[in-house]
Amino acid sequence: MYGLTWVTLLNNRMAGEWRKIMSKVAVVFWSQTGNTEALANAVADGAKSAGAEVSVLGFGDINSSNIDSYDAIAFGCPAMGAEQLEETEVDPVFTEIESSLSGKKIALFGSYGWGSGEWMEEWENRAKTAGANLAGASVICNEAPDDDALANAKKLGETLAA
Ligand SMILES: Cc1cc2nc3c(=O)[nH]c(=O)nc-3n(C[C@H](O)[C@H](O)[C@H](O)COP(=O)(O)O)c2cc1C
Repeated sequence: MYGLTWVTLLNNRMAGEWRKIMSKVAVVFWSQTGNTEALANAVADGAKSAGAEVSVLGFGDINSSNIDSYDAIAFGCPAMGAEQLEETEVDPVFTEIESSLSGKKIALFGSYGWGSGEWMEEWENRAKTAGANLAGASVICNEAPDDDALANAKKLGETLAA
């Protein structure tokens, strides 16, 4: 009886300690037709396989008040408008959190159609100007991600969790 109580207490304590040392990673994405979503799932898989506690979120779930509850964040958005971030749900949120990104470990990813990735270059520049620490090369893909893009997204998730 006392032995069991002791073991239970010890297990709870260890679970609590383990949760504290696991890195908390958020994968925040917007996707209209599923291409960026497929990358988001691969990033999340990579971060989980590296031992992180992962939350997959929409842009409506993140703001400057809760951003610091994550150790690292991957942001995904396809090229929209004319080489822009999606302007209703993504750009306003990214603008609001921009000043909280200084020193934050982040990663960027997204799909594009007919362009050559200018939206991502601009997004990276915004993140760097805000002082964010880009954990790895951003992953972009033309329309639906192929196996290479999915593998790169998974690696990015692993890097983010490390
Ligand atoms: C309104 C709209 C604007 C777009 N603007 C661009 C663009 O400027 N450059 C580009 O390369 N692709 C553009 N695309 C193509 C998308 O980025 C592409 O289809 C992408 O795979 C969509 O990703 P998703 O499935 O995650 O929504 C646009 C698509 C839409 C619907």
